[in-house]
Amino acid sequence: MFLTTAIDYANAKPHLGHAYEKVLTDTLARFARRTGQEVRFLSGLDEHGQKVQQSAGKAGKSPQEFVDGISVLFASLWKLLRVQPDDFLRTTQARHKKLVGEVLEKLHRQGDIVKGTFKGFYSVRAEQFLTEKERQPDGSWPEIYGEVVELTEENYFFKLSKYQDWLRELIQKQPSLIFPEFRAKELLGALEKPLPDLCISRPKARLAWGIPLPFDENQVTYVWFDALLNYVTGAGSGEGKLTDWEPAVHVIGKDILVPAHGVYWPCMLKALSLPMFAKLLVHGFWTRKSEKLSKSTGNVVDPGELAAKYGADAFRYYVLREMALGHDADFDEESLAARRKGELAHELGNLLQRTGSMIGRYRDGKIPAVAKPDPISEGFRDTVLHALRKWDELMKGYQIHLALGELWKAVQAANQLIEARAPWKLAKDANKAGELDATLADAAAALELVLLEVACVIPQTAEAGLTQLGYPGRPGPRQKSWPDWPTEQAGRALGTITPLFPLLDEEKAARG
Ligand code: MSP
Repeated sequence: MFLTTAIDYANAKPHLGHAYEKVLTDTLARFARRTGQEVRFLSGLDEHGQKVQQSAGKAGKSPQEFVDGISVLFASLWKLLRVQPDDFLRTTQARHKKLVGEVLEKLHRQGDIVKGTFKGFYSVRAEQFLTEKERQPDGSWPEIYGEVVELTEENYFFKLSKYQDWLRELIQKQPSLIFPEFRAKELLGALEKPLPDLCISRPKARLAWGIPLPFDENQVTYVWFDALLNYVTGAGSGEGKLTDWEPAVHVIGKDILVPAHGVYWPCMLKALSLPMFAKLLVHGFWTRKSEKLSKSTGNVVDPGELAAKYGADAFRYYVLREMALGHDADFDEESLAARRKGELAHELGNLLQRTGSMIGRYRDGKIPAVAKPDPISEGFRDTVLHALRKWDELMKGYQIHLALGELWKAVQAANQLIEARAPWKLAKDANKAGELDATLADAAAALELVLLEVACVIPQTAEAGLTQLGYPGRPGPRQKSWPDWPTEQAGRALGTITPLFPLLDEEKAARG
């Protein structure tokens, strides 16, 4: 499986939207590995273009110096959040520039890129062409664009129009190329109007920060053309060979489906005679108090600060539990704190804490053996295994938020088992030793099963929990017979039991 994220614009520091997408893709990569797939996970940064050139100018730096600085911010956030791509591509790397040059050359040679004139309204202040979308109802242009002039430029065009019918037919026949499917309908809607050819170059005089066209030194590539090809550069060996391309699952946000990934990209692949991508997984947008996250309104959320305060895993869990993949969600710090305290610390953390300490107290720190499960035990095992199967099915259907809900049903059932069987009472009666063994062993087994799965969402915590349970080694791919009840736990010594989600400073203060 070749799995990619969008490559983020390197013109500012990372925000919640960037962090969500990378955590989501990292989780999908870990889950796919758990199910036995081989995965190549690619992420990176989009470092060319007008926005970067302008931000660098404002910061008084050269564009390269500027993006080098930004790339450190992204890399350190991914490290903190345990987002671990196999390859991190920056579009200013030599391997990528070489590949883009080769692609331009090939498409030019075969007549898919042609010279033409571009006519449009240009804002001198913003140094960009404006589209009809930007025009105000009365026909004027917004103040921020300053003087707007009509300009004609010699440019190069990619012959998108040639592929329109082919693309429409492809999406009609295979709507499952796009998840959720309602996004395929949106794309088909956009394909009803005739597609204009795509202007893929800018005169160097206007935009210097880009990859030069091999056949015209006065022009550089349009940033989308450059950016989309990152997926080919980073495929396979990661050395920028066209032959390394493999159909990818592309994780992207809803704003870059039409036209970039839904129109330009499939047409580029077709023109290059490369196989189509496997899927576009289109996620929604985070808002705050139902409004767009935007620097200008101060409505930003710093994922690094949240991870520092609540822990990387609590952040990862929150964003995946809160957002239904494909739909928008509203960020709320209180709800993050509540999920950490409730589902993570109280339900999952406490289960380990109480199971571990009772195994310590009553069974000398070793997981007891169970000869034959009694009916209560059997019922409990069925509940847990059922929850695991549902989790698996929902994860495979990209319903991560619901999948986590299923896993938590297993956690809740284990807590209920302990409440119902009351090991502290069983321990007082020598005749109940078998029941006590079963209760402790069942809770430990359920925990192990859950932690091995939830490791794709909360990797650090899951590993810590498994170590406490005396689990040998690190979580790997499932056994063929998954899910079955662990039998090799009996006699295993637990590690030191410590809270998985310790109280936060403010929670301690509130307790006095
Ligand atoms: N550089 C392009 C992508 C090129 S991919 C070949 C770009 N960069 S971006 O920095 O603007 O966005 C990167 C990703 O973050 C996109 O998938 C985008 O949808 C996502 N998000 C940006 N803001 C977001 C939210 N508020 N919420 C969720 N994701 C959002 O587009």
